[in-house]
Amino acid sequence: MHTDSKSILVVGGAGYIGSHMVLSLKRAGYHPVVLDNLSKGHRDAVIDAELIVGDMADARLLDEIFSRYQFLAVMHFASFIEVGESVKFPARYYQNNVAATLNLLDIMIKNGVKHFIFSSTAAVYGEPKSAAITETHSLAPINPYGRSKWMVEEMIKDFAVSDGLNYAILRYFNAAGADPEGRLCERHEPESHLIPIVLQAAAGKRQGVTIYGDRYPTADGTCVRDYIHIVDLCHAHLLALRALTEGKKSMIYNLGTGHGYSVLQVVDVARRVTGKDIKAAMGEPRAGDSAVLVADAALAKQELNWVPSYPDLETIIRHAWQAMFKHS
Ligand SMILES: NC(=O)c1ccc[n+]([C@@H]2O[C@H](COP(=O)([O-])OP(=O)(O)OC[C@H]3O[C@@H](n4cnc5c(N)ncnc54)[C@H](O)[C@@H]3O)[C@@H](O)[C@H]2O)c1
Repeated sequence: MHTDSKSILVVGGAGYIGSHMVLSLKRAGYHPVVLDNLSKGHRDAVIDAELIVGDMADARLLDEIFSRYQFLAVMHFASFIEVGESVKFPARYYQNNVAATLNLLDIMIKNGVKHFIFSSTAAVYGEPKSAAITETHSLAPINPYGRSKWMVEEMIKDFAVSDGLNYAILRYFNAAGADPEGRLCERHEPESHLIPIVLQAAAGKRQGVTIYGDRYPTADGTCVRDYIHIVDLCHAHLLALRALTEGKKSMIYNLGTGHGYSVLQVVDVARRVTGKDIKAAMGEPRAGDSAVLVADAALAKQELNWVPSYPDLETIIRHAWQAMFKHS
């Protein structure tokens, strides 16, 4: 048994956000151990940490891992993340995001691990009822992906009551950018996130970008989203981890910058940063796309003393562009 008091189990640590989290944990002096089934992640994204290849649904494997390590906390990034796919194949989402997470929670609690940090999403809010969304906004997810995350949030709250689980539920808006040193980049397959798609177009890896609708009630008619730099997102996790281990309980925070950028603004900034002519074609609006999704992230800033270092879109896109080149 490893009784290192700084060991953290990072489930989904070979994915985009989890792999950046591993770098942040290492830099802060923690010892991350990654569990990832590599269904979407990449072996080479796990830098300088142990990678256990396996599934969080595998109870026997989890028993074995928890008997080997005495973890200070579990950070949970592993889920399927495609809204469209979740509508077509909801069972995959309830199986992987909910049932497998139940297995993870059950076994970590049985093994006496009390601190849990969960990657949730703005999708738990559904259609926004206000310009900037606070944590008290109603929870009414409109697709199986969002519902799967909401269900896990509810399970976590139940385990807090029954077993004293201490949790931080972090609801991300749009995670973007990359490690400023270029060690990692965003590599979803298929890629559905706007910034990497726009940069792939800039790099000539795709013909151009389709913009889904320009008649939304926004300044230029395209959808507005809140992009948060991956380094700032990970930093908020570190602060939440520290707060949990210092006795704070039951945290739920939005993680975003509070500033929205339209699709056209993202394309324009990407043209400026890359110096490339990125072709953008107008397509039909997609079902379920809200006009504006922007976080009110004041609570995380206030309670965690979280100050994002890279709130501007230009830096986010520049870091993503530099990293993409290093990894192509
Ligand atoms: N990317 C975003 O902008 C965003 C926004 C909101 C919320 N989130 C949440 O953040 C988390 C991480 O997102 P990401 O963009 O890094 O996704 P990702 O697909 O890059 O990473 C997820 C990782 O989990 C692994 N995984 C999936 N199911 C697993 C299982 N059953 N057992 C073990 N490993 C498994 C995958 O192989 C992958 O490496 C997700 O939970 C997602 O819902 C992401």
